[in-house]
Amino acid sequence: MPTPSSSSPSPAAERPWWYAAVIYQVYARSFADGRPAPAGDGIGDLPGITARLPHLRDLGVDALWITPFYRSPQHDHGYDVADYTDVDPLFGTLEDADRLIARAHEFDLRVIVDIVPNHTSEEHAWFVEALAAAPGSPERARYLFREGRGEKGEEPPNNWQSVFGGPAWTRVTEPDGTPGQWYLHLFDSSQPDLDWRNPEVGDMFEGVLRFWLDRGVDGFRIDVAHGLFKEESLRDQERPEPGADGAGEDGAAVSTTGDSMVERVLRDEPMWEQPEVHEVYRRWRRVLEEYPGDRMAVAEAWTQTPESMAEFIRPDELHQAFNFAWLTTPWSASAFAEVIEHSIAAVSASASAPTWVLSNHDVVRHPTRYGGGAQGLARARAATLTMLALPGSAYLYQGEELGLEQVDVAPEHRQDPSWFRTGEPGRDGCRVPLPWGGEVPPFEFGGPESAGQPWIPQPAEWAGLTVAAQEADPDSTLAFYRRTLSARREHLAGADDATTARADGDVLTVERAGLRVVLNAGGEAVALPEGEVVIASGPLTDDGLLPPDTAAWVR
Ligand code: NOJ
Repeated sequence: MPTPSSSSPSPAAERPWWYAAVIYQVYARSFADGRPAPAGDGIGDLPGITARLPHLRDLGVDALWITPFYRSPQHDHGYDVADYTDVDPLFGTLEDADRLIARAHEFDLRVIVDIVPNHTSEEHAWFVEALAAAPGSPERARYLFREGRGEKGEEPPNNWQSVFGGPAWTRVTEPDGTPGQWYLHLFDSSQPDLDWRNPEVGDMFEGVLRFWLDRGVDGFRIDVAHGLFKEESLRDQERPEPGADGAGEDGAAVSTTGDSMVERVLRDEPMWEQPEVHEVYRRWRRVLEEYPGDRMAVAEAWTQTPESMAEFIRPDELHQAFNFAWLTTPWSASAFAEVIEHSIAAVSASASAPTWVLSNHDVVRHPTRYGGGAQGLARARAATLTMLALPGSAYLYQGEELGLEQVDVAPEHRQDPSWFRTGEPGRDGCRVPLPWGGEVPPFEFGGPESAGQPWIPQPAEWAGLTVAAQEADPDSTLAFYRRTLSARREHLAGADDATTARADGDVLTVERAGLRVVLNAGGEAVALPEGEVVIASGPLTDDGLLPPDTAAWVR
């Protein structure tokens, strides 16, 4: 039986632009290299994004989110910021940023930029000053410097692990040459964590927000939004012994109820989701509201439950939070139904709507997650068609409109800091520069004239997947995305949010605004309900049945 539906928290006519927007993620290094030689260096940049904005207009998205392009030594490809209010020469200049924002607005595209408040780069002036200053100094108090444990302070201050592998602490050599304090870095050692209990930190970030708001950006994507504050004691994390009841291979707690999002065993996480972080977002909300035009912010918060994700979007906090529950859902009609119902219910108390994400620059591209090849692509298209009928906002990741798969990047070309810290392949495979045209790499990544190779090599097999090749093919994934976004505008613009999702065996049915979305996750073709097929993610059978791994909207 369908479970109770949610209804719109605000009437469609009063909704701000972001409420049901489709937002396209531009990974700055890999979208397009727009600067002529000799600057054309195989790394994407701001002029490249500006030059390719017509692609986003023609695709039919409402906004773009651009990953960090600020001054940075690029150890984590921009998520290590050395100066939050300047453009790295790799990506261009502040004037290039102004031109990009202005041009996007001419195309009716909003611009969201990334803000990275959990940590700076080791090259940020504050960290350089902290290293030169003494333990206990105000300069060190902007970060989390602590004495080590053990007789000579030779052990890290606690047992926390970096997200990129290895200990979350690095020991410094004091200015006098002696082994000294340790600093916390939840990510790479080149990304020291800030101490948000120090008021200077909050004041600095308010200035950063205002700097970019004054330049005309429409919103912010907040990196590691569930970070920032750590439990004040910096106590050890309790980790179950590997193999203990409820522990995964690495000792992390695992769900005891299979796919269920409801009864998950929560991990002990003194480094994430501290209650104090919400005060930061209340302050940011007040700043955003001083500006005209519904400026917004979206949290990247890998929270443990949809309910704790919803805390970030209480009416006086942020506008949206990425809903990663959708991204991690296995290929199963009942799992999809559950995640849809649960995600909608979790945000129903806020003034917001859910968000939906299938891919981004940190995860394996979804056609590959769904098994790769023709079946992976068919499933990816079906999941996308379903996602784009759901209430709220959807985030697309560059290249998914081309059906790109994860690339197996050769070890000598891998650049992800997590590869260097763990020896695991890392995230480079979803960050390979886009193929725009031509028959061979670099597939016009630097424009039609450029022959320079991009910073991660592209597979030769992408020749058939370039934007130019797919524009010429009405059955291409690009054509499918354009048709789907156009159907979304035609059938769902301003639609009520009330939605039901149910699984009958392997068939998912979502109902919203007079539309029935049917996704066949089973192995046999199934009959569609009566009505007009508005769009399908792949061909129907000759007798009009919905084949496996296919979805359709029926009106
Ligand atoms: C999340 C970003 O998406 C990821 O790319 C980055 O490595 C970490 N935050 C650290 O900033």
